Amino acid sequence: MIRVRIANREQIPVMVTEDLRRQLERKPDSVLGLPTGSTPMMVYRELVAQQAQGKIDFSHVTTFNLDEYVGLDEKHAQSYKYYMYENFFRHVNIDLNNTHIPNGTTKNLEEECRRYENLIEQSGGIDWLLLGIGLNGHIGFNEPGESLIAATHVQKLREETRTANVRFFGSSQNVPTHAITMGMGSILKVMKIVLVAFGKEKAEIVAKAINGPVTTWVPASFLQLHRDVTFVLDQEAASEIKSI
Ligand code: F6R
Repeated sequence: MIRVRIANREQIPVMVTEDLRRQLERKPDSVLGLPTGSTPMMVYRELVAQQAQGKIDFSHVTTFNLDEYVGLDEKHAQSYKYYMYENFFRHVNIDLNNTHIPNGTTKNLEEECRRYENLIEQSGGIDWLLLGIGLNGHIGFNEPGESLIAATHVQKLREETRTANVRFFGSSQNVPTHAITMGMGSILKVMKIVLVAFGKEKAEIVAKAINGPVTTWVPASFLQLHRDVTFVLDQEAASEIKSI
């Protein structure tokens, strides 16, 4: 079931932080699933600010990122490892040994996917996952298609995804063609999911995810099958939802 909360854009990071704060109060050693991209930037800024004020504590948490580009190492400014370190990890009281991101530069990518999925399992599973949503309905990098893959896997990025990400890479040739991503099964196993979207351009896909049929062509629509999902949206992103 998907719950929807609508707020002003500036309020969204505060709401998400509050939700995570409550989660960490209940379970200080929670296992968190984390996204990258434009959407969570404001959330990371808020989490950093609140940790500096002692309102939230990351010292016992473990984190797993959703995805990483194949071929980019941690020194590459567009790798998600670099993103997480620069935007979040280095500013808060988190133990870097407890932060996990798939390694997109290893020779054996299949083995890396298995290792990552097992590591999530061994950690006891993810308690709280923050998601963004792609314009084509992807979550993590689970792209629309004939089928979806349950476990962490190597995903070929669709052209529309590579085009959407040209903004980070300068030109389309520089956008990686593949990524390692948690699978749809890995995502649906999470205890609690919070998806954030804002802006008019996300309105159509948000409505399809919430109101449309559950279909592999809109991977986010599978969230309708989950027990505890909250979409946190601004007015624009919520503007095409029909009542649920
Ligand atoms: C990133 C991820 C992606 C993004 C999605 C939206 O780790 O998993 O699914 O959440 O592409 O990206 P933005 O927020 O840049 O619009």
